[in-house]
Amino acid sequence: MPRPIYITTPIYYVNDKPHIGHAYTSIAADVLTRFHRLAGRDVFYLTGTDEHGTKIAEAAEAAGITEIEFCDQIVDMFRTAWKNLTIENDYFIRTTSERHHKAVKKILGELHKAKTDDGQDVIYSDNYEGLYCNGCEKFITEKDLVDGVCPDHNRAPEKVKEKNYFFRLTSYLPEIKKRIESGELQILPEERRKEVLGLLKQDLQDFSLSRERVKWGIELPFDTSQIAYVWVDALTNYISAIGYADNQETFTKWWEEAEVVHLMAKEILKFHCLYWPAMLLALGMKLPETMYLHGFFTIDSRKMSKSLGNMIDPNDMVAQFGPDGTRYLLLTQFPFGVDGDVQAQRFVAQFNSDLANDLGNLVSRVAKLIAVHFDSKLPSPYKEIDGLDALMSQSEQLSGSVYDHIAHFRIDRAINETMNLVRATNKFFNDLAPWKMAKEGKRDELGGVLYACCETIRIVSILLSPVLPTKMRELRAIFGLDDQTLTLVNAQTFFTLEPGTQVKIEEAVFPRMQEKKQADTAVKKAENKTVADLIDIADFGKVQLRVAQILQAEKIEGADKLLKLQIDLGSEKRQLVAGIAKHYKPDELIDKKVVIIANLKPAVIRGVESNGMVLAASKGRKLTLVVPDNDLPVGAKIS
Ligand code: MSP
Repeated sequence: MPRPIYITTPIYYVNDKPHIGHAYTSIAADVLTRFHRLAGRDVFYLTGTDEHGTKIAEAAEAAGITEIEFCDQIVDMFRTAWKNLTIENDYFIRTTSERHHKAVKKILGELHKAKTDDGQDVIYSDNYEGLYCNGCEKFITEKDLVDGVCPDHNRAPEKVKEKNYFFRLTSYLPEIKKRIESGELQILPEERRKEVLGLLKQDLQDFSLSRERVKWGIELPFDTSQIAYVWVDALTNYISAIGYADNQETFTKWWEEAEVVHLMAKEILKFHCLYWPAMLLALGMKLPETMYLHGFFTIDSRKMSKSLGNMIDPNDMVAQFGPDGTRYLLLTQFPFGVDGDVQAQRFVAQFNSDLANDLGNLVSRVAKLIAVHFDSKLPSPYKEIDGLDALMSQSEQLSGSVYDHIAHFRIDRAINETMNLVRATNKFFNDLAPWKMAKEGKRDELGGVLYACCETIRIVSILLSPVLPTKMRELRAIFGLDDQTLTLVNAQTFFTLEPGTQVKIEEAVFPRMQEKKQADTAVKKAENKTVADLIDIADFGKVQLRVAQILQAEKIEGADKLLKLQIDLGSEKRQLVAGIAKHYKPDELIDKKVVIIANLKPAVIRGVESNGMVLAASKGRKLTLVVPDNDLPVGAKIS
């Protein structure tokens, strides 16, 4: 029996809703899982959410709800997105679950008792003084900053001075290096392995595994004034989810006995390839067999970001291309493992060319000729056909080579090689022109060509089923094939379909998409922020509405619609520009309470700096300021 395999994705932060970057890893893991199952392996697929830390607490506060209410809402969005993408994970771990808390406390307790080989405490306390980026959830140094702010989060780090517990990472680095060099801990692709070995040559420091300032997290069992560092909390999900603290049987099976594969993108390399193995070594536990760090992609050459408005919601893609179309398109944009660019405007053309034309049309044409000339019954094979031997051997070799690609994480190549068989079958069909054979009365040859095409389609339906599970089930139903025959072994032999089988196609498996419909698509939606769309609570939560009082108002020279306002926000005074001059005289505004958006980026309007925006309601030409109840104190947050 092959060894069971345990496949994980990172657990995603819930400070925002899922996008296709998250979907990419989860789909890839789902495809690997399904392939290994086809090959008869026992697989456990884990994904989940990372719910603690300052940025999640901040997002919840901005949304005006409790942390757990906020997490519940975003977690639902992740679960729904994965369901819509037909991702079938075996378990979904939440770091806010009781099960996870119990495991983290157990691990921290064990680490607290543990000693290094030279008899030192694995955990020690020390004071930390320095800079902390809440966005990265890590300590950073002056040299990481660009113009005084963290370049990844565009925010200034906080100066912190606190007592922390440290984890003696440095004691475990030589052993980690040895395991990586011997291949016992496999880091893939090779470039990432080199990167880790490069890091190991640098002057790495012990890391702090607790935070005094952070409130939303898991308390250390040996010092409840401290919260576990969010990365320590998060990494342990890989064992809390399979019973580390509550089910020895599943834990033994999926950690100690299985081949453990952690899948992620390259930006979280240091945590996974150094911190996590060091923690496991300190606990006296087995290390994972493989870390696979795939590339990071951009959208139309730009980093995916909320402010650029180019984040694509996987649900929008599913609405347009279906779950299978979305899975296929995302995995075929660039080789798995390297960085890439997703050119979303090409999705429709690629869907039409690969799925609707090459695959969908082949099925329709073959099924139609069988319907017309063989009363919808599969004809018998016939071997005296030009090109049949070549097609047969390509088909029979395919599953071996596709599975080899999968075993080496070459997902895009596995798909492409299968699509090559589709293309070769189209060529075989077109070269032999069976419609002419029909006219010439060459019935045996006609039947033989159609039978051969059905066989390659059957083999393709097995090998594409991990990527296109729903559509391949539909396709297989055309030939009366059920999931029982869905195994890699069945893809190894030609001539297995029973002649006489009913071949029934009612509608195209992949209907062609209208290219001009692109205007309403997921892609356009992401690119064009003016397209009306419903927003999520997480988006709304980012807008900070506050009660302010107007202190001064004056006209701006040369701008007849604008007024310059000085306002009081309680904790601070600000200037902003409002387009209300046609509706209010400056004098009428003094002392008026208004509602403002307090966290807009500063803008300069007609040469005057504006730090916020006043809310007003309009109907027709009439515009009125939104005025809060007079009892509301200046500075009050509105949620
Ligand atoms: N919570 C941590 C992970 C803890 S794991 C113990 C985290 N979360 S995250 O929400 O930021 O997710 C990062 C992961 O999302 C990446 O490692 C990758 O799997 C996926 N991706 C997010 N954007 C992506 C791209 N643009 N391209 C490829 N993968 C992307 O880090």
